[in-house]
Amino acid sequence: KEQTIRVHYTKDMVSVAHRGASHFAPENTRAAFQKSVELNADFLECDVHVSKDGELIIMHDDKIDRTTNGSGFIKEFTLDELKQLDAGASFSKEFKGEQILTLNELIDEFYDQIGLLIELKNPKLYPGIEEKIASLLGEYDDLSSIIVQSFDIDSMKKMSVLLPNLQVAVLIHPKDSLLSAAKLDDLASFASYINFNVSFLNKKTVERVHDRGAKVFVWSKKDKNIIAKAHKYNVDGIITDFSNWPYEELIYL
Ligand code: G3P
Ligand code: CA
Repeated sequence: KEQTIRVHYTKDMVSVAHRGASHFAPENTRAAFQKSVELNADFLECDVHVSKDGELIIMHDDKIDRTTNGSGFIKEFTLDELKQLDAGASFSKEFKGEQILTLNELIDEFYDQIGLLIELKNPKLYPGIEEKIASLLGEYDDLSSIIVQSFDIDSMKKMSVLLPNLQVAVLIHPKDSLLSAAKLDDLASFASYINFNVSFLNKKTVERVHDRGAKVFVWSKKDKNIIAKAHKYNVDGIITDFSNWPYEELIYL
């Protein structure tokens, strides 16, 4: 029989707007990040690359093709060239004219409004990206509302050395989901968060991470059922395109 429960998410799980509130606005744009704030998410999540002239660029893919009206790799274009692109129209004509953002611009505008979960999407493509991030974030005395994450474990180890007061997170790829005790010990020695896709979320895994003093965020782009599952397993945060969950919502179990 269907049972209805009411969950107050902010009490024990934080909500993270995946690529901004990307169900409602073009991913990784100012519009999506503003929507995250409007929906009262606890964090926005964004992805970072580097332009030809060394600027930190907010975009998910290595290439500009899917989300803009241009074509080619981000690293082949200068910031000025990238700023000419339309990053909104492919989502909907309502967002035509939306420009790509730099990480500097994002932090300037949003640092005081919402937590920032900053993903280094493909750091091996951009040697020195960790130093750039450390130099930018090092200007802030209070880094408690910022987390830097990556699937690239070496990159996150390096970040934690460059900026010891920064919280870093390691993203676990589905193919690496079965972590040995030794591997978890190693990750938890420098990472404050070990984050999983909801597809391999289970109670034991969360407990194993918590036993080592780290927290767990799980991500799922569109799966609303993630909420109930994450809540049941004491997950610390959920990363999703639907990011209006600090309000309460009816969940059907
Ligand atoms: O935050 C986790 C999630 O963003 C990882 O997947 O591909 O959306 O960057 P992706
Ligand atoms: Ca991401």
